[in-house]
Amino acid sequence: MTQESLFDPVPEQPKQQAVPALDLGSLGKVVQECRKCRLAETRNSVVFGEGNPKARVFVIGEAPGADEDAQGRPFVGRSGQLLDKILLAIGFERSDVYIGNIIKCRPPQNRNPLGDEIECCKPWLMQQLEIIKPNIILLLGRVAANTILENTLSMSAMRGKLIRWNGFDCFVTYHPAALLRNPNWKRLCWEDVQLLRAHYDKVCPNS
Ligand code: URA
Repeated sequence: MTQESLFDPVPEQPKQQAVPALDLGSLGKVVQECRKCRLAETRNSVVFGEGNPKARVFVIGEAPGADEDAQGRPFVGRSGQLLDKILLAIGFERSDVYIGNIIKCRPPQNRNPLGDEIECCKPWLMQQLEIIKPNIILLLGRVAANTILENTLSMSAMRGKLIRWNGFDCFVTYHPAALLRNPNWKRLCWEDVQLLRAHYDKVCPNS
């Protein structure tokens, strides 16, 4: 730009077409029809997620198991019962938070989700985060934490502290299924969720 043209009026730009954000209910309907990956062939249900659409805390697990696949709801089996207890221990009812997973369909035999399945499914979760706009995210287990934080760190490198990611305040702790296998980790999980609660009281004092 020359010195002379610096203050000339800028020609009007064509208006950007804003893509209207879906609400949670409409997004849920779209996701129910998803056939982006092979898990659509074997699932009984798409487990979209559930909870308070205005939740300040979004809890993210890994993938539905057999109970969740049968009922179409997240964390309703043994892991879910433990998750409910963990939440209650820090003063949250299940209905206070929003609960979802990295992937929405059960991998056969509960194997770990494959990279391409995560890539197909992650945009749905990103849209849920965009709609709900929680202040705090609780990441359950290494798969959830590595996927969201886009790292390959170990659980011990991620838990026990606040991690800022994309404007969200994240806490990482053990997956309830891991706690059922190794109850020694429950004390560390307790420390993690207490940290989360203290942070919640600071950033969401009137919620
Ligand atoms: N484990 C998960 O990670 N998510 C569920 O919904 C159930 C079990």
